[in-house]
Amino acid sequence: MSKHQANGDLPDRVPVHLAIIMDGNGRWARERGLPRLAGHRAGTENLRRIIRACVEFGIKILTIYAFSTENWGRPESEVRGLLSILEQVIDRELDELHQQGVQLRHLGRLEGISPELQRKVRQAIELTKNNDRLILNVAFNYGGRDEILQAVRRMLADKVRPEDVTDELMSSYLYTAGLPDPDLIIRTSGELRVSNFLIWQAAYAEFYATPVYWPDFDKEELRKALIHYSRRERRFGVLKPETT
Ligand code: IPE
Ligand code: IPE
Ligand code: MG
Repeated sequence: MSKHQANGDLPDRVPVHLAIIMDGNGRWARERGLPRLAGHRAGTENLRRIIRACVEFGIKILTIYAFSTENWGRPESEVRGLLSILEQVIDRELDELHQQGVQLRHLGRLEGISPELQRKVRQAIELTKNNDRLILNVAFNYGGRDEILQAVRRMLADKVRPEDVTDELMSSYLYTAGLPDPDLIIRTSGELRVSNFLIWQAAYAEFYATPVYWPDFDKEELRKALIHYSRRERRFGVLKPETT
């Protein structure tokens, strides 16, 4: 066992790009006899802790799935609550995130969000654009298929020639343009599905699922996930050179 793992500190090899499907807020609340929005608020509190832990662990890019294109289908009160939580997070946390050196980015569509919230999102992105300690991609009003469709539409509008459509070109038309693909995707709450998250980018991501609900997924749980990851052998479809 390495010294890091033995002293309960850091895993040997951390992902450059970590993505998290933050799931289970509703069940966390229900088990406590609380309304679902209380679960979302607890989830937001937890996010603050996890961002800090990611900075400590030396992760460079964190992508979080906060609201999917399908989540509009939830009851109107829950959708409104989630939008107002996002607004409160920007109001309350932006200064601290900026001080921590976090660069905020948005993955998804701004259409469908109120003009006031759109303005706040744009301001937050502008304020933090030169920070380089951690890139925090917030996938909000995001769908992986929608992202690919938008990319194809824009390529056609740009009159891209069929022979010029490559892996790299496709990646450059996605919301994650310029960023490496996620190395590790964590999903909390025991669900074992992708739910339209980073469909293109996840091609060779390692996947880690835990039954822990998102509000309870603390730094120790993150450390466990990172240690699992550090022991994985990533193959990318090829064989390792013979060592014997
Ligand atoms: C994840 O928690 C947060 C969002 C999808 C916005 P859920 O709200 O999906 O919680 P469960 O899955 O119902 O427990
Ligand atoms: C995925 O969780 C979306 C987010 C975490 C924002 P959901 O709870 O919406 O996914 P399903 O419905 O279980 O697939
Ligand atoms: Mg869910």
